[in-house]
Amino acid sequence: MTVKIEAKDLTKVYPSRNGPICALRDFSLRVEEGEFVCIVGPSGCGKSTFLRILGGLITPSSGRVELFPRDEKAPLQNIVFQEYAIFPWKTVLDNVAFGLEMRGVPRTKRRETARDWIRKVGLAKFADAYPHQLSGGMKQRVSIARAFANDPEILLMDEPLGALDAQTRVILQGELVRLWEASRKTVVYITHSIEESVLLGDRIVLMTAHPGTYKTEFSVPFARPRSFELTGAPEFARLSYAIWQELEVEVKRTMEKQL
Ligand SMILES: Nc1ncnc2c1ncn2[C@@H]1O[C@H](COP(=O)(O)OP(=O)(O)OP(=O)(O)O)[C@@H](O)[C@H]1O
Ligand SMILES: [Mg+2]
Repeated sequence: MTVKIEAKDLTKVYPSRNGPICALRDFSLRVEEGEFVCIVGPSGCGKSTFLRILGGLITPSSGRVELFPRDEKAPLQNIVFQEYAIFPWKTVLDNVAFGLEMRGVPRTKRRETARDWIRKVGLAKFADAYPHQLSGGMKQRVSIARAFANDPEILLMDEPLGALDAQTRVILQGELVRLWEASRKTVVYITHSIEESVLLGDRIVLMTAHPGTYKTEFSVPFARPRSFELTGAPEFARLSYAIWQELEVEVKRTMEKQL
């Protein structure tokens, strides 16, 4: 096994008007190459903070993070956010090709790659549409296609399906499983949904209530390829419930603090 991400004792303190806020405390995580790790934890526990540190968008107050690239020329990591984060003035095609354009991939090649991913996420008819013409689920497909088209070694996803209605979410979960199983990228995936984490992940890391740190983890034993059918299996329900029992304590602690 090759280590792809090594985060050690990460702490992040944000300044604020009411004094410093410790958003993440001594959080460590190691992710192997090709592993799909889900992170679950109560709201405000520091999940996005952790992902932003991995993505290089913010720096930790202490601790260190190392990402191990295989190919110096390829993009190392890409983030997909909950709020679609696509450019309203660009077409679907240009949005999906954006990362490739930034990397200087020639126009014909990047459009070809972008079209290929647009087809894979089921948006072939909408390649020339603008984001305002798309539903939320379609916009998130654009974000996902853009991330995959850019072909980063590591995909960082912060509740990418969080803004979607439950039915669209199920469809996109199935699509993500399929896309990931074909590419086997290293993924760190944040979600509030235990079922989603069990369906998608190889391993689920639970975080404590604010200030978040590592609590425990579960490995997901289910064979791949997986599909939504798995969610009907008794073992699926058993594992989901075991995770909930651990998470519930942290969610209640978070709620008590807010009272
Ligand atoms: N830029 C910032 N300045 C000050 N405080 C911040 C900042 N960003 C986050 N925080 C605080 O840090 C803590 C962790 O925030 P973070 O967004 O990482 O949590 P989260 O686990 O992603 O939450 P959610 O599940 O609601 O998305 C919270 O208390 C939040 O209010
Ligand atoms: Mg968050």
